[in-house]
Amino acid sequence: MISIKKTPGRDFLVLNLSDPQLGDGEWEAGHPNRKILENCVKTLADRIRPDLITVSGDLAWAGNDLAYDALADLLDSTGIPWAPVWGNHDNQGGPEKVEAVVCRYLTHPLCLYERGPAAIGNGNYVIRIEEDGRPVSALIMMDSHDRAPYVNEAGEESNEWAKLIPPQLDWYREQIAALAADGCSDSAIILHIPIYAYREAFRAAFREGIDPKTVLPADADGDGCWNPGYESSFGVLWEGICSYPADEGAFDAIRACGHTKTVVAGHDHVDNCVIRYEGVTLAYSLKAGPGCYWDPRLNGGTVLTIGESGVKSVRHEYVKVEGTE
Ligand SMILES: [Fe+2]
Repeated sequence: MISIKKTPGRDFLVLNLSDPQLGDGEWEAGHPNRKILENCVKTLADRIRPDLITVSGDLAWAGNDLAYDALADLLDSTGIPWAPVWGNHDNQGGPEKVEAVVCRYLTHPLCLYERGPAAIGNGNYVIRIEEDGRPVSALIMMDSHDRAPYVNEAGEESNEWAKLIPPQLDWYREQIAALAADGCSDSAIILHIPIYAYREAFRAAFREGIDPKTVLPADADGDGCWNPGYESSFGVLWEGICSYPADEGAFDAIRACGHTKTVVAGHDHVDNCVIRYEGVTLAYSLKAGPGCYWDPRLNGGTVLTIGESGVKSVRHEYVKVEGTE
């Protein structure tokens, strides 16, 4: 079990970085993409001074050893503990490739990570945030895997973005029960591929008749594009929600437990909307750097502010990219 101390009287800040995903070649000295990512991470570490950095998946590309190690060195350079979950690209080479990275990452004293039960994926683990020995909140770090088979209503088979699997949801319920037994009443899930409920939340929250691709971040922070009851929403949706196409039951499990009030996902690089849906904040993290594909207007990280009763707020911290609007 991993636990990390919160200082009494002071908020605990989690900085989530998502999808840094540079390839080996982009880490070469002087490469512009490396510079942008380094500037993003360093700027945020200096500006936020977080107590913990989480990375919501797609750290690099499976098999790009140099890239995984370079990212670990960059995170180490902040002096702040950091904790990853794996994304589809990390998982793409199979569990052996992930395990090779894990073996190296566990030699980094600032890396917080546990393998978790092998039967449910790579790296399902819990970070307890404790104040005076009492857990005030916990981060449930979950592996959303790579791809999963799907059969549509017409009986056609396809391979789609993966989902949390049933035994993983059982594991989740067990972790929540253990946290509740220890007096903890709040938790946040950090994972890579959004759960299905992100689709339902956006459908419920976003006004009909507006093309989401035309909404800029500044205009998405207000009630102009959100339905009544969802005015606290903010952030944009410039691409579709790439979850598994059918409800995997994760949101039912979350609602039934009544413990997790925040979910943070990555994966969709130009989506960063944050919607409070049925009592749970479903957030897309802001993406860090230009890896894979990006929009320089959506560069930065996402901050969870945790007080003595749990997560108090979720906000994006943008980092301007030199030479862009
Ligand atoms: Fe991804």
